[in-house]
Amino acid sequence: MKKRLFSGIQPSGDVHIGNYLGAIKNWVRLIDQYDCLFCIVDYHAITIEYDPKEMQRRIFNAAAVNIAAGLDPEKCTIFVQSHVPEHTELAWIFNTITPIGHLERMTQFKDKSKQHRENINAGLFTYPVLQTADILLYKGEVVPVGEDQVQHIELSREIARKFNMRYGEIFPEPQEILSEAPRIMGLDGKTKMSKSLGNYISLVESPESIWKKLSTAVTDENRKRRTDPGNPDICNLFTLHKYFSKKEQIERINVVCRTAEIGCIECKKILSENMVEHLTPICLKYERLIKNTDSLVNILQTGAKRCRRMAEETMIEVKKKMGLV
Ligand code: TYM
Repeated sequence: MKKRLFSGIQPSGDVHIGNYLGAIKNWVRLIDQYDCLFCIVDYHAITIEYDPKEMQRRIFNAAAVNIAAGLDPEKCTIFVQSHVPEHTELAWIFNTITPIGHLERMTQFKDKSKQHRENINAGLFTYPVLQTADILLYKGEVVPVGEDQVQHIELSREIARKFNMRYGEIFPEPQEILSEAPRIMGLDGKTKMSKSLGNYISLVESPESIWKKLSTAVTDENRKRRTDPGNPDICNLFTLHKYFSKKEQIERINVVCRTAEIGCIECKKILSENMVEHLTPICLKYERLIKNTDSLVNILQTGAKRCRRMAEETMIEVKKKMGLV
């Protein structure tokens, strides 16, 4: 029996290269090794303002981009969170054993409360409890995520431990798996790449748009003139070269940037070309998938069917332990 892997992504806008390098690439890498469940977490996405007319398109978009990036539906289960009602049922139960103090410490809650001052709702506050329910409903043991989610996974371990101690052993303590790029910075070079901050390159960005975004992206800010030597160690785009460019190119840039033999524009052109080369197959596959919504519906329905069966079994076990029979 393979161990179970669970991870999720919000349908809250374009899937970007931060999501890809921080999480999705790892999902694809681990797909044969684990029994993988990937969830489009729409109940999480509604904790901030959104347009209901847009949501269905975003869900299809998230499914299509992830499949295009390598999540083969023949090898893993892809589904939508709200198609399995037990997620919120288990979240309610976990709410009753989660100390408020733990939730108040969550940095994502603090950040999002600052970003959305006009809508600091209870769902935003208890978001990590729902995330715990997502994982534990399927007894997920490993959770590949970016660094920003590690605190939430730590909390899921605490909730699992607390439940097991209070009501009896049911849940594993989930373990995060980080990629080699757990925190990709945005094109501003100052904040994490994020859908909500608009500082990203999408996985299905056009070549023209990739170049436009890279051409204004922040590099080593100490390098004011073309003739100034640069420092790749503190250049945000050099980090991206490491994931998209060829080994010889990276080695060369690491030398010629320091001696000012190459300028930022030329360096960005190389990165842009490599990114386009890397992302074009994903774009082409995405274009094909997004046109065929019937096939996407089929994949998501098959996924939800399998997950509902597992979720029902877990809830029977949970309720028995809790005396809710
Ligand atoms: P979300 O939708 O914000 O992001 C999806 C995944 O992408 C990672 N990520 C990044 N990694 C590196 N650098 C970045 N700049 C970057 N931005 C995003 C995230 O860490 C994440 O792994 N709460 C989750 C979704 C979720 C979930 C779950 C994840 C809900 N339930 C259960 C795992 C298990 C979120 O908002 O991810």
